[in-house]
Amino acid sequence: MNPETHQPSPSAPGSTAPQVGNTTVPVWLLVLMILLLYWSALYFDEHSGWFSPDVYSPYTSFAEVQQYQPVLGDQTMFQGRRIFENICALCHNTDGSGKSGQAPPLAGSEFALGSPNRMIRIPLVGLNGPIQVKSQAYNLSMAAMGATLSDDDLAAVLTYIRHSFGNKASDITPEQVKAIRVDLKGRVQPYTAAELTGLPETETNTAPAK
Ligand code: HEC
Repeated sequence: MNPETHQPSPSAPGSTAPQVGNTTVPVWLLVLMILLLYWSALYFDEHSGWFSPDVYSPYTSFAEVQQYQPVLGDQTMFQGRRIFENICALCHNTDGSGKSGQAPPLAGSEFALGSPNRMIRIPLVGLNGPIQVKSQAYNLSMAAMGATLSDDDLAAVLTYIRHSFGNKASDITPEQVKAIRVDLKGRVQPYTAAELTGLPETETNTAPAK
């Protein structure tokens, strides 16, 4: 310390007792404190997660936490799921298990897993009358719930169904949907299950479907 900044000592010269005095705060200490404050603000900004109850260390923001959530990998499945939950889930249930008295299940269904040529036609014109799904009999009626969807959207929702709820079947492409629309030649009359099962497996057929 600089002895010149000390006040004149009241005690006798040569005394070893501690002295009370005044010193100005050194500039470097002020600068250090400001830097420390600045650094702590940055640290807070980076590590607090802005007090979100969903964010814990080592994650620093909600966006980062969300990044680790399981997501549907590809765009088609994401799009298909959205359409499924908006339209089809109303009757077939979000988990595809069906609803008693409203619709049969899509999970494990022969129609959902089977030939695209048969499946694509169901949402385009509807389905009426007796049907067996997973050895259970139904006799209900489904309107043309997918008729207003674009080829792309209908392909996505059918692909989503064929890859969800434990189902494993081939994708359905917009080209396949388009081919069936052409083949339907403007038909609006709903199918019966018997008529569907009588159709050939491939979708590029010219079999009478009117
Ligand atoms: C308003 C209720 C309702 C909605 C919404 C609905 N369905 Fe259906 N769906 C039914 C009924 C009822 C049947 C059975 C018809 C019968 O008994 O002949 C059925 C049968 C089916 C079948 C064949 C049977 C099976 O369970 O696999 C498929 C495939 C199907 N629907 C797909 C769809 C798709 C795709 C959508 C959405 C675009 C959809 N459904 C929306 C009521 C509905």
